Amino acid sequence: MPSISVTQGELLQLKDLVQSYCGIRVEDSKLEFLQDRLVPVISAQGLASLGELCQVLLREIAFGKDVVWNTVLPLVTINETYFFRELGQLREFRDHVVPALVGTKSLRQIKILSAPCSSGEEPYTLAMLLDESPVSLAGWSVEILGIDIDPEAIGKARAAFYPHSAFRATEERYRSKYFTPKEGGHRVVPTLAGKARFMQANLLDLPKDRALEGFDVIFSRNMLIYFDKATQRRVVDQFYRMLNPGGYLFLGHSESLMGFDVEFKLKVSSEAIYYEKPALPGPTSTSPLPSRGTSPLRAPGTSPLSGPGSAPLFTRGSI
Ligand SMILES: C[S@@+](CC[C@H](N)C(=O)[O-])C[C@H]1O[C@@H](n2cnc3c(N)ncnc32)[C@H](O)[C@@H]1O
Repeated sequence: MPSISVTQGELLQLKDLVQSYCGIRVEDSKLEFLQDRLVPVISAQGLASLGELCQVLLREIAFGKDVVWNTVLPLVTINETYFFRELGQLREFRDHVVPALVGTKSLRQIKILSAPCSSGEEPYTLAMLLDESPVSLAGWSVEILGIDIDPEAIGKARAAFYPHSAFRATEERYRSKYFTPKEGGHRVVPTLAGKARFMQANLLDLPKDRALEGFDVIFSRNMLIYFDKATQRRVVDQFYRMLNPGGYLFLGHSESLMGFDVEFKLKVSSEAIYYEKPALPGPTSTSPLPSRGTSPLRAPGTSPLSGPGSAPLFTRGSI
């Protein structure tokens, strides 16, 4: 194999390209590790240097292609995720957000976006929670869409097979109800797998598509931390546009909209901090109240979601 050149200058060029393409800031300490993993990618393209690879990536941006980008992205993304990550937010979603939507939406449809979804654990977790919703969703159309830029992660999400480590925060009863044991891990049962759809897309360059509008809840956890402030702002503005009035945004624990001048209303409960896109003025509810439920129903924004008299139904650590 002819020798392949990867210089420090070329690595820095790639780092800049990656950041402008998808927002991810590759840490300088990771560049050496990246260098070794890039050599097979450069070689597979029949190129002689990382500089040439950068030229190919630039050309792809110009022509709206992503074939070679798809071989580079898995090297720079951080896909860490697992089922039932950040339990407090998930309880808030199940016990307050979903009932609030059911109590206020006139159209019996709930659209949820998990972006980024990595290998799918988050969308499938949401599907499990909705399957056990404290309010009846009978007669409702519920859509869960997972988006991630990494083609390998999306491939894993669609395969719906998970290693044991993905279950480190999962109660056994969920694993036995929604998964089938297979060698080396567990597969999502078809009834649950059919409740989530997946799409590979760059959140900095989403196609114009009606399917990407009108969400009631967006989970975007543990991605913005890798972006600079300007890119965070751009993505948050986009989420605002993608949400219905009265819709909700959940960010990761170490992410917030602090310092951003945004229209979102801050929601604080004993379980979670999250955001609401203000509802349109005037009555919005024509749907009946849910027929069963253990959580108080409130129109978004009319009172705190938690507080005295609305103690969490579950203790921390279980869901
Ligand atoms: C740490 S994972 C978070 C997964 C999940 N939300 C969670 O909290 O467990 C971060 C994901 O962000 C994705 N990502 C980074 N930049 C992206 C972009 N511009 N568009 C879509 N996904 C992106 C990565 O591919 C990676 O899978």
